[in-house]
Amino acid sequence: MNAKVDELSLPEIDVEEFRKVVRSRRSVRRFTDEPIPDAVLEDCLELATLAPNSSNLQPWEFYVVKTPELRGKLAEACLGQNAATTAPVLIAIVARPDTWRRHAQLALDEWPKDEKLPPIVEKYYKKIAPLHYNQGPFGLLGAAKKTAGLAVGLARPVPRGPYSVNEMKVWATKSTALAAQNLMLALRAHGYDSCPMEGMDECRVKKLLNLPSKGLVTMVLAAGRRAENGVYNSQYRFDQKTLVHYL
Ligand SMILES: Cc1cc2nc3c(=O)[nH]c(=O)nc-3n(C[C@H](O)[C@H](O)[C@H](O)COP(=O)(O)O)c2cc1C
Repeated sequence: MNAKVDELSLPEIDVEEFRKVVRSRRSVRRFTDEPIPDAVLEDCLELATLAPNSSNLQPWEFYVVKTPELRGKLAEACLGQNAATTAPVLIAIVARPDTWRRHAQLALDEWPKDEKLPPIVEKYYKKIAPLHYNQGPFGLLGAAKKTAGLAVGLARPVPRGPYSVNEMKVWATKSTALAAQNLMLALRAHGYDSCPMEGMDECRVKKLLNLPSKGLVTMVLAAGRRAENGVYNSQYRFDQKTLVHYL
C-alpha cells in the first residue's frame, strides 16, 4: 500500500464515513471467536504507524499476540478482564522513550529515496535531536538544560522539556497514544472492534512478552469482532461547555 499522498491530489473525503467510524467505535468488552484476518491486522497496524509523532522519531512498538496459550497468559496479566479473555488478538502497545537515538539515524537512513535530504533535516537529526532528547548520565544534562531554559526563558520562548527521564516517558507516551487511537479507528473502519486496557499488571506483561526493560506498556489492546453483548452501556460525554474553551 502506498502511504504517500501527493498534496496536490488530496482525495475527496466523505465526512459522514469518518463520523461513522468515530461514532461507532466503542470500548468493546466481549468479542466473538472470529479471528481478524492477517491482512486486515497488517493494514490496521500500518495505519496506526501513520499517526503524527514527535520529530517523526516513531517511539512506539506493537507486540501482537494471537496464539491461544500466550494470549491466555496475557489475558491473566490483564487482570482477567472480559475484553482480554474473549479477544482473538491482544496487542501490547509499547512506548519507547529510549529509541530516539537509533530512530534519529533511521530517520536519515530511510528518508524518501526520491527526495533530496534538506540540510536542515540532516542537522536536526544529527545535532539538534541529540541535544534535545539526551538527558545525560543520571539525568544531569537534562537538569542543566532545564536550568539554562529557565534563565533564557525569562526573555524569550524556549522549549520547556523534555528535561528528564520521566519527561521522556511522557514524550514517548504522547505519540504512542496517538498511534493507538489510529489503530482503534482502523479496526473499526474494517468492521472490527477493540478495547484499550491500562488495567493490567505491567510488570507481568513485560516479563511474559519479554519486552524491552525501558519500554512502557501504554495499554494492551483487545481486538476482534464485537459480540452482541460486547458494549455495556450507551456512550456519553460531559457537556462540551465544561471541556472546550474558546478564547
Ligand atoms: C488509556 C485507556 C485505558 C483504558 N483502560 C481500560 C481497561 O483497563 N478496561 C476497560 O474495560 N476499559 C478501559 N478503557 C476504556 C474506557 O473505559 C472507555 O474508553 C471509556 O469508558 C469511554 O467509553 P468508549 O470508549 O466506549 O467511548 C481505557 C481507555 C483508555 C483510553
